[in-house]
Amino acid sequence: MRIVAPLEIEDYVIQTAEFMSPPRWHIGHTSWFFETLLQTYQPGYRIYNEDYLFFFNSYYEGFGSRIARGRRGTRSRPTVTETIKYRKYIDEAMLRFLSQIEVREDAEKMLSLVRLGLEHEMQHQELLVYDIKHLLSDLYNAPVTIVPVAAEAVAGMAEIEGGLFELGYAGGDFAWDNEKPRHKVFLQDFALDRALVSNGDYLEFIGAGGYRDYRWWLSAGWDAVHREQWEAPMYWELHDGEWMIRDFHGLHPAKEKANEPVAHVSYFEAAAYAKWAGKRLPTEAEWEKAACFDPQQKANWNFPWGNDAPTVANANLFDRQLWGVAPIGSLPQGHSGYGCQQMIGDVWEWTSSDYAPYPGFKSEFDEYNDKWFVGQKVLRGGSFATPQIHIRLTYRNFFHPHERWMISGFRCAKS
Ligand SMILES: [Fe+2]
Repeated sequence: MRIVAPLEIEDYVIQTAEFMSPPRWHIGHTSWFFETLLQTYQPGYRIYNEDYLFFFNSYYEGFGSRIARGRRGTRSRPTVTETIKYRKYIDEAMLRFLSQIEVREDAEKMLSLVRLGLEHEMQHQELLVYDIKHLLSDLYNAPVTIVPVAAEAVAGMAEIEGGLFELGYAGGDFAWDNEKPRHKVFLQDFALDRALVSNGDYLEFIGAGGYRDYRWWLSAGWDAVHREQWEAPMYWELHDGEWMIRDFHGLHPAKEKANEPVAHVSYFEAAAYAKWAGKRLPTEAEWEKAACFDPQQKANWNFPWGNDAPTVANANLFDRQLWGVAPIGSLPQGHSGYGCQQMIGDVWEWTSSDYAPYPGFKSEFDEYNDKWFVGQKVLRGGSFATPQIHIRLTYRNFFHPHERWMISGFRCAKS
């Protein structure tokens, strides 16, 4: 609710593209998710409003029919006021549910479902940031914060030795089923960029005619370039022959942001850049090893910097409230054992891995992760819109290869 606080009433209801959802929809949908829990497990619970079940369901076949994703902005009802009232009603019902949870025999299962609802809500907090960016970008009243300055130059590639590596979640507090089970993979020796690909790097690709040369593109990517008429990342605008980037803080020449990580690129664009640069995208196993393994201590950490949870000093996540990427080299404390920086936060990083189940995968949540196991690519590391307590090094995000309204960037690898 703090994210939507600066919005005007009109901002809540319109849908500016098929892929985004109006803010009102997120506000209702996250409560709907908790209402499905109340419906199933709270004896005597009465549905708040049958119409809301249709309007606020996203994609769950098991919870009945729903409005098509691209039509979420075609209705003015329920109103924003009614949606907020619904949200308060569900929040209060959940508080009552939680206050009685201890006496239940299935208390542990109930708490894990509540946790699921909270993790789901955090995913929508992040999506809300993407959608508000599409809706308003610099018209949104984002907090003004001091952008950190680069403390050091980050250059070159880390050389990483191959061999057996254990990929996936090692246990602890919470993880999605798609991060499990931890399993052995074999890696060849490889190198990985210490820094994210920057706007400056990407400007060179554009300047070299990258978007007009089929040689760098996957076939489906080349189709997308033509279909979508791509000439640059999303939110880049050409003004008098100069590329400008529009973000939450205004419109700036890309040149002035040359040292910031490039964002809002599709998988196709990331792969084309990598090929042009004589490199490739890392697999998710390569990314994970580069992020967690400490070659000095011969140990795996939970985060690049060690086992401690992220703080604003080592990662640019949502809690930092920067509402944008941090310059390369501005978070030296967050470096991995191999000297790779900004692996957590800033931008989700495309990997070349298909989003598919790990060997031995067991579904823990109906219709949550496993029904998406085809046609999407894995992204790692979180973005400036990811809540600090939501991210893990083993977290597997996934999007279709043409999507780029989310905060997506990349770094390159080499064999
Ligand atoms: Fe959802």
